[in-house]
Amino acid sequence: MAEDKQRIVTIDGPSGGGKSTVSRVLAAKLHFTYLDTGAMYRAVAFQCREKGIDPADSQGLEALLAAIRIELLPPAEGEDDVRVLVDGREVGSQLRTPEMGMLASKVSALPQVRQTLTRLQQQIGAGGRIVAEGRDTGTVVFPRAAWKFFLDASPEVRARRRAAQLRSKGEEVDEAHLLAQIVKRDRDDRERSLAPLTAAPDALIIDSTGLLVEEVVRRMYEKILTTPCCGKK
Ligand code: DC
Repeated sequence: MAEDKQRIVTIDGPSGGGKSTVSRVLAAKLHFTYLDTGAMYRAVAFQCREKGIDPADSQGLEALLAAIRIELLPPAEGEDDVRVLVDGREVGSQLRTPEMGMLASKVSALPQVRQTLTRLQQQIGAGGRIVAEGRDTGTVVFPRAAWKFFLDASPEVRARRRAAQLRSKGEEVDEAHLLAQIVKRDRDDRERSLAPLTAAPDALIIDSTGLLVEEVVRRMYEKILTTPCCGKK
């Protein structure tokens, strides 16, 4: 029933499918807050590395999770990415490397990590009016979200997009290596037992191969406008 729904948009899908850009643009169009859940997993991975904690050490990880303070702030003027503060220190650019993506994928399979971050994400989304982006936002974090999308694209296209993104930041990229990393990370994210990457049964699946960001956003926006939600709030 529409009354049971939360005024939340979820966008899940594999890495490089265009989720971040689409989520940001859609959130701005709707005047909703953009919640980048992947940045939170990356923040935990970063902190494990900073503190020299092996994620397999469950006591060490427990202590890290109890103490970590993750803040997501709107992008700085002229920037696209959400600002991420870990324990008050801005670490955004260090989180957005392929290596940190791989480490984030690894820590994200751990129950303690998922439990902590899922709870935090649900607190952030409690008031509604958010666009949440990740792997399990429509299935586990916000199962009552009113509008769910699953954004996919071929691995080759996703690798090409990621490569372009990294190059635009002045980084050198080996595209074949990037493709191999993307394929592995997606397989791991899909095959893990907890909250695996999968489309919610009530999600609209969009294949963005060959589509411009504007077209993806247009389809989502149309779906949102034509799907009722949550009374008058
Ligand atoms: O979206 P991203 O590339 O920043 O995510 C990094 C990793 O974090 C991804 O490979 C899996 C994990 N993740 C997750 O398990 N659940 C989410 N909701 C978001 C990310």
